[in-house]
Amino acid sequence: MQKKYHIIVFGCQMNYADAERVAAVLEKMGYKKTLKLEEAGLVAVIMCSIRQSAVDRIHWLIEKFRKIRNLQPNSYRLQTILTGCILEKDKKVFIEGFDHVIDIKNISQLPKIMNKKSSLHKIDDRPNSATMDYLDIKPKSFSKFSSSVPIMTGCNNFCAYCVVPYTREREISRPASKIINEIKSLVKSGCKEIWLLGQNVNSYKDPKNKTTFAELLKKINKIPGDFWIRYTSSHPKDFKQDVIDAMADLPAKASAKAEGNHITPYLNLPVQSGDDKVLRSMKRWYTIKQYRKIISDLRKKIPNIAISTDIIVGFPGETKTQFNNTVKLFKDIKYDMAYINKYSPRSGTTAAKLKDSVSWPEKKRREKILTDTLRETAFKNNKKLIGKIVKVLIDNKKDDTYFGKTDTYKSIKISTFAKASVDKQKSKTKNKNLIGQFYNVKIIKANNWNLEGKII
Ligand code: SAH
Ligand code: SF4
Ligand code: F3S
Repeated sequence: MQKKYHIIVFGCQMNYADAERVAAVLEKMGYKKTLKLEEAGLVAVIMCSIRQSAVDRIHWLIEKFRKIRNLQPNSYRLQTILTGCILEKDKKVFIEGFDHVIDIKNISQLPKIMNKKSSLHKIDDRPNSATMDYLDIKPKSFSKFSSSVPIMTGCNNFCAYCVVPYTREREISRPASKIINEIKSLVKSGCKEIWLLGQNVNSYKDPKNKTTFAELLKKINKIPGDFWIRYTSSHPKDFKQDVIDAMADLPAKASAKAEGNHITPYLNLPVQSGDDKVLRSMKRWYTIKQYRKIISDLRKKIPNIAISTDIIVGFPGETKTQFNNTVKLFKDIKYDMAYINKYSPRSGTTAAKLKDSVSWPEKKRREKILTDTLRETAFKNNKKLIGKIVKVLIDNKKDDTYFGKTDTYKSIKISTFAKASVDKQKSKTKNKNLIGQFYNVKIIKANNWNLEGKII
């Protein structure tokens, strides 16, 4: 059987960026990618531990692997690898279900490790300074036009509910020169959208020359070419005016061909709760007043900016009144999007010692209230865009309909063309693959969660 690998990724964009590095290592070992699990000789799972439900999925996969193996001939046995964000205690559990459990930072040593018998591989206990070497592996990009560049990894914040500081260890930034070179080479190869990734990009600092995140953005903005920069995640406590200034540096131009400011008018600024007392017990060191000030400063300088957030409902001790402060914040900020999470206790975190006092049905109820509020604000914001011409990166096609994202990271469906220009359009787009290209699109309809438009 040909050496084929299948990759399964859970979690955030950091994990997808890591998965592209795992894929690169496997391809160097002679494996070819397959999208079908049943066809694979090797499966690599990149796991997430952020909520218990993410961990439960791994147990479910182990069961699935067992069933596949039962169907395979004795001479052949599916190989399995687990990596990604794994808690120490879970490594010991999952080694029972996988051939190899490996720290993501050791992924370049996979060929050596696979020659060994099944065991838990923590062979590399180098000091923290070396833990991000694996980010230098040239990734096997999953997309031709959208890529991620991790600018740092790890986290020092220890928010009370969060496992990331335990799975990704302490925060380390990559040198700005490496980041710039990676972006230049992506742009050269035709990449149109580049995500700068880190758990807290606002505390980015070049290890040698101390370049800050705002300075990094300004350097990236000088790179010639037609491409977008997006970044995530930001922490309100470290989000300062210099980043707003860098984002507003040059006015983004409407033309699809235009260069200028590469940084898109979109920001995910996780607030987690709209109540100061809950924020304190979450160990999120900012107040709602400070958070609101950042948003108003952003909107002053970048009026068309779209803003999303992350929320946890039902954090231990969250009262109905405290939750209502989050609803009020949602109504006032008028978010374009929000990632609403029901609190899940994670062992080892400080919040795990607190009583998980809000029941599951109540968490669901709070989640629904916020989703309903968000639907209204997102729809209102979307309606304001009707008639406007925006730059869109087309990322998908189904039958005759194209799909894409606006510069403000809104999903858009492109199903119709301007009447007068139907013929012109048809000749313009005939035999042409629009996917991965920028187009100017006139917005003709607004829905709750997306827009509709036509290429002009
Ligand atoms: N670095 C980012 C968050 C990364 S984790 C930040 O500081 O905001 C992504 C999201 O998962 C978080 O924003 C949070 O809303 C959610 N999350 C993290 N831990 C959680 C938990 N224990 N239960 C429920 N949601 C959680
Ligand atoms: Fe987790 Fe907080 Fe770090 Fe974000 S900033 S990764 S929520 S500990
Ligand atoms: Fe999950 Fe790790 Fe991201 S725990 S959310 S994959 S940083």
